Amino acid sequence: MDRILVTGGAGYIGSHTCKALARAGFEPVTFDNLSTGFERLVKWGSLVKGDVCNEADIRVALREFRPVAVIHFAGRIAVGESVVAPWLHYAPNVGGTINLLNVMREYGVSKLVFSSSAAVYGLPKISPVNETSALLPLSPYGRSKLFAEQMIADFMHSSGLRAICLRYFNAAGADADGECGELHDPETHLIPLALDTLIDQRKKLSVNGDDYDTPDGTCVRDYIHVTDLANAHVAALRRLLVGATLPSALNVGTGNGFSVREILNAIALETGREVPHVIGSRRDGDPAHLVADSTEIKRQLEWAPKHSELNRIVNTAWQWHQRERTHGAMRSNA
Ligand code: UFG
Repeated sequence: MDRILVTGGAGYIGSHTCKALARAGFEPVTFDNLSTGFERLVKWGSLVKGDVCNEADIRVALREFRPVAVIHFAGRIAVGESVVAPWLHYAPNVGGTINLLNVMREYGVSKLVFSSSAAVYGLPKISPVNETSALLPLSPYGRSKLFAEQMIADFMHSSGLRAICLRYFNAAGADADGECGELHDPETHLIPLALDTLIDQRKKLSVNGDDYDTPDGTCVRDYIHVTDLANAHVAALRRLLVGATLPSALNVGTGNGFSVREILNAIALETGREVPHVIGSRRDGDPAHLVADSTEIKRQLEWAPKHSELNRIVNTAWQWHQRERTHGAMRSNA
């Protein structure tokens, strides 16, 4: 069975990808320092506790497990945090990626799927946004993803690395079997924050502005079910393993946009409860409309979203969220 090293495999998208890999007949090996990941999400293969900021840790994993490819998720993700503490992002997202590339080269591991982000586009002039749009990230987080993409491109050019960068739009939802789901601490994303107000009566969601140039004034995003996202990684990996020529980067989104209000309405419909909310001010760097042009990924990977209907995203997220909160496990890493 082909082994795949999954850095950040104990995180939200990483754990769903490990499940998708196992289902597809691969053996995932999670490499994670558990700083934001959770050991209990590592269910589909071994865990190597290690840090991408430490080349020696990566060496141990490659030497012991001899993977045929790497899927690289490890890094920080909170955009706001990256603005106030950029060092927290550049060290793992840029430094960690160069360490990984160096050690992969040392051990002759030449296939890589990289977790990039729509944040590399910044405030695109046109939405849906395609892969040729200008790359003008607004935050240190977005810049760290762009630098990593550029380093990967340099390694592809110079040392035979074969890689693809997947630029995610808004990952959402949870595994339909309830085996993994979103667990961020602190949480910053819309859907889990909105669901949390239904459980904790003291909380109210703050809608970040309702005066945007969108049909209802709130920001429009492309929400993709995390299972579809995980399957996109497996599809990209398969293509790399058979030696297919792929573009350097692909958007992973559905091509459909939903406003914040539409999300709150979908939650009300699915749970039977209104989300208590107030209208707050705009959040810095939020584009009004950010939707993927997903033509290329469908063509290149023969992949299409199958789980991303809004009610399914909300329903799976709600099931996961309620269970996590009832079991009081949200803050535990056990
Ligand atoms: N929002 C609120 N209130 C909240 C949280 C979010 O109104 O409490 C709004 C945001 O302003 C935004 C929408 O809900 O308009 C979605 O926000 P998220 O924080 O869930 O997601 P983002 O679109 O900000 O972020 C996503 C990814 C990032 C990536 C970014 C690229 O999670 O990793 O897209 O723009 F960098």
